[in-house]
Order: sequence, then C-alpha cells, then structure tokens
Amino acid sequence: MKTNFVNLALGLTLAAGAVSCQSQKNNLVLEHQGDTLTVVRIANPSKYILLPIQESSNEGQVKVEPGNPADTYMDVRLATDQVEYYVPFELPQGAGEATVLIRNVAANALCWDSIKVSDTFDTTNREKFRPIYHHTPIYGWMNDANGLVYKDGEYHLYFQYNPYGSMWGNMHWGHSVSKDLVHWEHLDPAIARDTLGHIFSGSAIVDKPGSAGFGENTMIAFYTSHKNLAKGQREIQCMAYSTDNGRTYTKYEGNPVLTPFDGLENFRDPKVFWYEPEQNWRMIVSADKNMRFYSSKDLKNWEYLSEWGAGYGPQPNQFECPDFIQLPVDGDKSKMKWVMIVNINPGFVYGGSGTMYFVGEFDGKQFTCDTKPNVVKWLDWGKDHYATVCFSNTGDRVIAVPWMSNWQYANYTPMQQFRSANALPRELNLYTGADKQLYLSAAPVKETEALRKETKAMGDFDVTEEKRFDNLFENNDGAFEVDLELAANGGEAGLELQNTLGEKVKIYVDSKEGRVVMDRAESGITAFGERVEPHMLDTEESYARYKQVTVDYKNDFALGTWAPVDAKKAHKLQIFVDNGSVELFVDGGQVAMTNLVFPNEPYNALRFYSENGKAKVTNLNVYKLGL
Ligand code: FRU
Repeated sequence: MKTNFVNLALGLTLAAGAVSCQSQKNNLVLEHQGDTLTVVRIANPSKYILLPIQESSNEGQVKVEPGNPADTYMDVRLATDQVEYYVPFELPQGAGEATVLIRNVAANALCWDSIKVSDTFDTTNREKFRPIYHHTPIYGWMNDANGLVYKDGEYHLYFQYNPYGSMWGNMHWGHSVSKDLVHWEHLDPAIARDTLGHIFSGSAIVDKPGSAGFGENTMIAFYTSHKNLAKGQREIQCMAYSTDNGRTYTKYEGNPVLTPFDGLENFRDPKVFWYEPEQNWRMIVSADKNMRFYSSKDLKNWEYLSEWGAGYGPQPNQFECPDFIQLPVDGDKSKMKWVMIVNINPGFVYGGSGTMYFVGEFDGKQFTCDTKPNVVKWLDWGKDHYATVCFSNTGDRVIAVPWMSNWQYANYTPMQQFRSANALPRELNLYTGADKQLYLSAAPVKETEALRKETKAMGDFDVTEEKRFDNLFENNDGAFEVDLELAANGGEAGLELQNTLGEKVKIYVDSKEGRVVMDRAESGITAFGERVEPHMLDTEESYARYKQVTVDYKNDFALGTWAPVDAKKAHKLQIFVDNGSVELFVDGGQVAMTNLVFPNEPYNALRFYSENGKAKVTNLNVYKLGL
C-alpha cells in the first residue's frame, strides 16, 4: 500500500465530520472522503477517464455523472500498489464538468497518482497469446457468446463482456459482426449493465412478423438481468429491441417479461425461437437443474408449458445456456429430430464446464429425450468449450459458437489486456453412430478455409519409428492447420506439435483403449502464477478419466483429454492451432476437442510416432493460417 497518497495536496477540510482531502492532477480534482468515497471533478472533460487496474485489488465502484437514469455503479479493481493496465470510462461531452464517483477505494491507493484523462485509448495488441484468427474482445473480459443472430448479410456475435477489467464482472453484451464468420469487426457494447442488474446471457431473434409491436424484422434480444443478491429472486428475463441492425438496443419499458413463479435463484439464459407448427414463439430458460419451456404470441407475455432435465447428465451439475435445434438425421429432411444443448458447470467429464446434448422429440409443449438420463453426449471433449449456443435465422445451417475457456481457471489465464476467445464457429449435424444412436457432429464451418494462406502438401508415409517436420513455416506466428488421415494400426500413434523449448501438445490414437487423446500437460505455461486453483475435478468419473491419460498430475490445466473412437479404422484429423489454442476435429467433427495452450514460443515442428512401427499417415497437408 502506498503511503504518500496525493500528488499535490491542495487542502484538508472537515466536512460533515469526515476528513475530506483534495488534490489536483492535470484538470482532475480529487476529493477523498475517507476511504469510502472519492469524488473526481473534471473540467471540460476529454473523451475518457483512464482508470489504473490491478487485478488482485478489491473491487471499488465507479459511476460517471451526468449520466442516464439507468446508469449504475461499475465494479472496478483500481490499483492499490501496482498499475497493470488501464480501462477507459467515457466522459459526458459538452456538459462543462464531469464528476466521477468512486466508492470503496482507499485514499492512499496508488491509483490516485496514475489516474488520467485522455481523448484516446490505445487498443494496440500487447498480448503474446492474442489469437491470430479467433475472435477476441480488443480489451476487457469475455465469456459466453450471446444473442447469435444473422441478419442482412451480417453474423452478430454478442458476448458477455466486462469493459472495465479483464476479469469477470459488469456484464454487458459486447458486440462484433462478421460477413463470413472469420473476419470480425469490433463494435461498441450493445447492452450495458444497468440498475436492474448485470446483463447475463441470452439470445436474439429477427422478429419477422413483428409480433412484439416494434415493427417487422426488428432484432430483439432476450437476456437475464442478474442482481448480486445472496438469496432470493435475483434473475429475471428482459428484452430489448434494435432498429439499427443490432448496433444499439432500447430496453423494453415493461421489463421484466418473465420472472420465476417459484422464486428460483438460478433462472437464466433465455433462448427464444419461432415454433413453426403453431406460428408463435417459445422460450427456454435454464432453471437450476432443469430447462423450462414457455410460449408467447407477442414476445412480452410468456406462458409456462413444461420443464425437462432433472436427473439428466452427470450429477451434481448446474444447467446453463440452453439451445434447442431441429436437424435432419443423416441429412434426411423427412426425419427431423430436436436436440437440446445443455451447458453445465460444474460436471464436465474433465472437470469444470462443458457442453452436452440430448436428442429427442418436441410436441410444442414438452421435450422427450430418446435416451436414459445417464446417457451423456458431449459436444466437445476438450476442457475449453463452454456456453455454446447457435445462430438464429441461418436457414438450414446450424452454426454454434463456443466460449473457449473453463470456469475453473478462466479468470487467471496468462494475459491482461483481454481475456478469452471464442473457439471456431462449428456447423452441427446429426448422424447415426455405429451403436445406432444419434450424435451431433461439430465441424469447423467451411468458411475457415479462407484462412489458408500457404499450403505444404506433405503426402503419405509410413511411420516406422518417428518422422519429423521441422521449421514448418518461416516466421511462424503460431497459426496453422494440420490435416491428415491416420491409421494407428494396432498401437498408439500420433503426432506432437513442438517448439524448440521442448514444449509440446501430443495428439494420438490409442488403439488398445479405443480413444483419441490430446495431452497438453507439457504444452508450455500450465499453471497460472500464484493463482492456480487447487485441483477441482468435480466427480470421481472426471478424476478417473483424467488419471488415465495424464502422466504428470499437476492441476486442472496440465492434463490430457480424450474421446472414444474406433481405433481399428483410419481417422481423418483436422487440427487448428492458434496462439493460445488447439482444436481437434476427427472425421468431420464426429469428435471435437478444444483445449487452450500457452507455449512460450509458437509450435513450429511436427513429430509423428508409432508405438508398433505400423502406423500410416495419408494426405498430410499443413496450412499457414491468417486473416
Ligand atoms: C455461463 C454463465 C451464464 C450466465 C453468464 C454470466 O458461463 O454462468 O449462465 O448468464 O455466464 O456471465
């Protein structure tokens, strides 16, 4: 803690019994009323006040005045004794003076020395692990993808966003748009935390018939307003509409549109969709360990229909972020099935958060699952795939976007300017597996082929011992794709992505156990400073699976993840490597596996190996990827 707390002490006054201390810096006047309130007055404000952040500090509360009536205090970790980075607060323009109220930051904190105003905020990337081709916020924290919707040639990706720090907090809906799911343009946040609460996850639709009375083809967002109440009704469903193609939203004055009838505490992440047979709307809300269905004609009044899900999937769990999609079986449109996507945290098979799905029937009122509650199907077998939901209004295509992290360590990954990326958008399809059950495949959207900037066709070869490909690309920035067909032929066989520091990611087929594995135990940085969480694999099953492939027990991050495959067959592997992640797709996405990695230097070599010397690699192609 800093002791000398003001730059230029101008005065010390006794106000209402409290010691009030004033200082001036540039055109900022700071008035500390003890440790509970600091009033910052700014004459002729520039565009921003830049607040110094230290992630280990406690949260203070910040509010800018004059503002809008719905503006609320934002939680900000103002620097106590070290400035790690700055976050900008926009200042009101043309008002002559702006006032910033800051609560609960000690008067002797270091931030008061470093606080500043500016007309610019530098967003140039300064992070080593900024992905090259995955979507990230330019600064600040991101979690779930929200309100995915396609309209007039644009894919809208809204996301859980904290503009005031790179850890979870102050949930807004951040916003990016893309014409091709590959190049993303960053826009201003679309919906801001307000007096009703944080803007939690939800969905967006194009209201083609104009059911809500805001006009035909209006974009409407549905989200959960969340209050930090220890107990009681803290989650309600709200709506907001946009008449400028999703850039800005007006919150509906009649909010909330739905409250839980039984005061449930966990009641969130509304998914709204058009139900064609009845020409009206459905909403699914995750309600603790259930999904609740509602129907509506006008999107404002919702009638409870049914619930589904208690006892399904690993226990214990918490249902979050539902999606509900209809897909043809094996491409046959005369056989349509409904699929319920359920994100759970905790309960994932390798600990923390993961995405499962259930296939069944829907009669407009009630979902019936084809399988027993203990049958769990994972949409992705890696540790960093969560809160996955799909775009609305994309016709026959079902395109999902995952958040690429895990709640076990998401707040502590080794970066600060921003935290978290989205995994590649995936196209979902239903296929019949060898056991005659229905499964979802999740393959990278075909648009990702546009990322290929340079191709190295490396042909076919037998892996009798090992085979290396060093120096894959000159100036490799860490973004490439490896495609091949691998026949393990009775042993363990696969490849390692390597760098010159001995760090590696091992991807292999284990014929004895019939599984495909991605092991990141030695991938680079695998423990995040002092803040590494204690081991938190949630269930005995997750622990057992983890022990089966991970040699070196370290923490929730340094591990291998695996999925069952038929090891007697050759498999097509598609591996997307970026700064900070590796995504594996087997046989067109029949297995998807997404894991974060933080190598100290980009991987730039491949080492193939075969335990019994009988493996075969066919059609090896390596692509340098870029935007
Ligand atoms: C899932 C989740 C959602 C919630 C949001 C809050 O990751 O917990 O259920 O709406 O994150 O940021």
